[in-house]
Amino acid sequence: MAVLNVNIDHVATVRQARRTDEPDPVWAAAQCELAGANGITVHLRQDRRHINDRDVRLLKETVACKFNLEMCMAEPIVKIAEQIRPDQITLVPEKRAELTTEGGLDCARNKHRLAQVVRRMHKKRILVSTFIVPQAEQVIASAETGCDAVELHTGPYANARTPAAVKKRLAELEQAKDLAADKRLFVHAGHGLTYRNIAPVAAIEGLCEFNIGHSIIARAVLVGIREATAEMIRLIEKFGPQPQTKPKAN
Ligand code: PXP
Repeated sequence: MAVLNVNIDHVATVRQARRTDEPDPVWAAAQCELAGANGITVHLRQDRRHINDRDVRLLKETVACKFNLEMCMAEPIVKIAEQIRPDQITLVPEKRAELTTEGGLDCARNKHRLAQVVRRMHKKRILVSTFIVPQAEQVIASAETGCDAVELHTGPYANARTPAAVKKRLAELEQAKDLAADKRLFVHAGHGLTYRNIAPVAAIEGLCEFNIGHSIIARAVLVGIREATAEMIRLIEKFGPQPQTKPKAN
């Protein structure tokens, strides 16, 4: 059964709308953890549009569950990760003008840099995951560069508008997951997942972690972040693969 990491970037987005000190993502992280989240995810972007260096430092001190730092491979950001030492980094491509992460990291084209970053993170005992589109060459490049995990981009699934398109996107996720598992990678998934579309992805066997942000924070505005986190965990558990029960002995 997969577990939930809550991406709390947009708590910081609200704070930055007024360049003030509330709401504090550090407080939000504690609430998510109390609601049962397995991990807290933040993206330290080069433009610091939401999460900033202070947040990352304090979250490292205060998050007791998994602390997953999303980041690009730019050298100043890699250096910050080496200093902060989150439990895990998730490597993403980053464009300054984008609203949110667009597309996956091209691990196949950036193999040299990726291998360097993986070596440096492993020296600090930090797990490395790559955010990739569900394609074989990206899974293979992640495995060949020594990554620990891949996060399969669920955006194309979330954006699929017809039953046939949804089916195709789910099949791509399944195939990539099987290949990643063969390569002994942990398999995560995220982007665009919501309370409405999580069920078929939660049902995929062998996924370990979901990273979900916007939908949970949007609901949190109305019901509170603890309730929003708990509701998503309930759905993941309800639709997730059921544990095998042993046949009853006579
Ligand atoms: N995973 C990755 C790698 C991301 O970049 C993001 C967005 O920051 C997410 C998951 C969460 O996506 P969403 O906010 O759509 O749930």
